[in-house]
Amino acid sequence: AQMWRLLTLFALRQFVFCTCSENFRLIKDGECRGLGGTDVGTFADAAFITWFICDELIATAMVFNFQHYYYWVNEESVPLSDGYMIMGLLCNTTSREWVWTDMSPLDYKPTKAYYDPALDKPCVPGASWYLHPNSSWLLGVNNKDPINILSFCTTQLEHPTPEDAGCDEEDELCYPIVPSGENWQDGEATCKRFDGNLASIHNKQENNFVRRQAVALYSSHAVFIGAKAGNDGVFQWIDGTEMDFVNWAPGYPKENFGDCAALDWYRTAGQWMNIDCNAKLPAACMVNKAPDVVPACTGQAYEEGAIFTSPGYPFSSNTPCEYLLEVPAGKQLQLEIIYLESNECCDSLVLHDAHQGGHQIAK
Ligand SMILES: *[C@@H]1O[C@H](CO)[C@@H](O)[C@H](O)[C@H]1NC(C)=O
Ligand SMILES: *[C@@H]1O[C@H](CO)[C@@H](O)[C@H](O)[C@H]1NC(C)=O
Repeated sequence: AQMWRLLTLFALRQFVFCTCSENFRLIKDGECRGLGGTDVGTFADAAFITWFICDELIATAMVFNFQHYYYWVNEESVPLSDGYMIMGLLCNTTSREWVWTDMSPLDYKPTKAYYDPALDKPCVPGASWYLHPNSSWLLGVNNKDPINILSFCTTQLEHPTPEDAGCDEEDELCYPIVPSGENWQDGEATCKRFDGNLASIHNKQENNFVRRQAVALYSSHAVFIGAKAGNDGVFQWIDGTEMDFVNWAPGYPKENFGDCAALDWYRTAGQWMNIDCNAKLPAACMVNKAPDVVPACTGQAYEEGAIFTSPGYPFSSNTPCEYLLEVPAGKQLQLEIIYLESNECCDSLVLHDAHQGGHQIAK
């Protein structure tokens, strides 16, 4: 049991890591909202202070469209005695128009009863808008009395992108250089773990690409590539492709220098030399570029104690999945949900007591 707990904790830590920071809630598709900070100031500078506070968090101040309005009013509203929820509206003194601090146009407004008419007039600098608990947008113009500034912000989790480094846009291949193993064979084994091989090189362009990767790494004068001599002494690519291009340095391959090939970027401009297969060199791999993954239900089986996430979480909430809990007939099933984090707006968990035609037992 102890072991399970440890495993679970470890998984939880990793898992929580890519979600919203403290005080922020995951709303949908990697968007986090919450109180970014507080300060004391006047309405004259409240909007600027809020802008700075959110900016520090790589976030934007409260910017409204219909959906945001609903959220801030219903989920985060606080009494005025606690402070003012400052909106991200600033006066453009050139155009005399109110503009959102993220530069988006002011194209959403609530119905007229719910905002100060000043919003439709030329703007005035030195004033700040706030969201009143009665859900109105009001303009604070008092620049003498200090107020509690509540700076709510919206931020976007960074979506993980496939590693660009080492990928050639043209041939859809990536050439990661992996650290030195014990020998050439080790290099090939490491490349295999990425679902690839030691690189086979079929033209000058690919050769240059691998060379550039190796130069960028700068740890060694050469890198293993995927050519190896067979018993007959003829070099072949490990991935079985044709030897339709060679780039040996003058005089190479040299007899008794070794049966493995390395691309040298230090003494030559990326020419090849044969070398002892037991040399300790980084390996230039060649792997297919990871395709853009569309979130999908996996249908995989989970062991008791495992943590699983809905597809695309936390970056997407568009894929509904069914999870089936199976027990032998006649046994009872006890279900305990220890930890559930969801996109607040759009995810839900519904439990039925049978796969098809069952009753809803919880939501
Ligand atoms: C302010 O308005 C002027 C005139 O419309 C425009 O050129 C400028 O980009 C605006 N500045 C900001 C920060 O929105
Ligand atoms: C909200 O409260 C403000 C300040 O008390 C008031 O001026 C405004 O009329 C109220 N708005 C609504 C829609 O109740």
